Amino acid sequence: MGFKTIIYRDNKLKIIDQRQLPGRLILKHCNNIKDIYNSIKTLTVRGAPAIGVFAAYGVCVGLRTTKTPDREKFFKALSKIISYLKKSRPTAVNLFWALDRMEGVAYKNKDKPTKEIKGILLKEAKQINREDEIMCKRIGINGAKLIRSGDNILTHCNAGALATSGEGTALSVIYAAKKRGKRVRVYADETRPLLQGARLSAWELKQKGIDVTLICDNVAATLMKQGKIDKIIVGADRIAANGDAANKIGTYGVAVLAKEHKVPFYIAAPSSTFDFSLKNGRDIPIEERDPDEVKSFGGLDTAPKNIKVYNPAFDVTPSNFISAIITEKGILTKPYSKSLKSLK
Ligand code: MRU
Repeated sequence: MGFKTIIYRDNKLKIIDQRQLPGRLILKHCNNIKDIYNSIKTLTVRGAPAIGVFAAYGVCVGLRTTKTPDREKFFKALSKIISYLKKSRPTAVNLFWALDRMEGVAYKNKDKPTKEIKGILLKEAKQINREDEIMCKRIGINGAKLIRSGDNILTHCNAGALATSGEGTALSVIYAAKKRGKRVRVYADETRPLLQGARLSAWELKQKGIDVTLICDNVAATLMKQGKIDKIIVGADRIAANGDAANKIGTYGVAVLAKEHKVPFYIAAPSSTFDFSLKNGRDIPIEERDPDEVKSFGGLDTAPKNIKVYNPAFDVTPSNFISAIITEKGILTKPYSKSLKSLK
């Protein structure tokens, strides 16, 4: 791979500081709960699966200051850490999935000494990390079956190794196809306003030796009209029980274009991204971010200072626009309300 997005070694938690890419590949040490919260909030670490894995380790880092043998006090501290981290970002369900799993494991072992519970929690975080790596690999293997040699593939945002603790979701499909000797060319949407496509996907794909061409978001329609896109593969932040999928803002527009131009539109996501408590995508909470992300870039104003801004970070693609959902357990097709049940 060449780089690891999340590293937990010798009791130290480090992440690639994704705000610095592609200019600088530097690691940020996360030593306390505030570091964990801020790293998620500011997109220092981002991408749904990566946020989940990181938050699981974050619980362990947060508990370092809780040395009490008193179980009541310990569980109070744990619950404070978990509710705090749950406030960092609202859309990617992997965050809540990982935190609930950590809490569940702690309660399952509630009669053990608090020091032992801490050890169990660290083991669980490492397990979540390992599972994510395996899920990424399997998504790649499953998705690669859909790819034909010579395909031109469009992707949006970054659903690669930088967004997970493994090889990614959407980009894992591309890496697996290449490994199997298939020739693929990728078009990466730059992904306004934070440019995850330009800063992260373009960088990551180049690192992996993939033929990648960067485009402005508004070029995708022209490429599809010219018949230059064979497939679209993107990731997801939360998928409802009927297959409606939230992903980076702009994904829905790409899906609508795909339908018009009869280009297959695929979502690649692990089971940790599915939220069966939501019947459809209408109830997926959509994060709204700081207007400054739209009004300025790299310290320069790109709009009048006092302009009104609407800056949702995600949109929801209705399931009828999705040709198939690539998961670690297989490729799921319509009707999703039926096929998704295999993930439960
Ligand atoms: O705001 P971000 O950068 O966290 O948004 C990330 C995305 O929308 C990804 O496409 C999604 O999390 C899938 S990552 C495998």
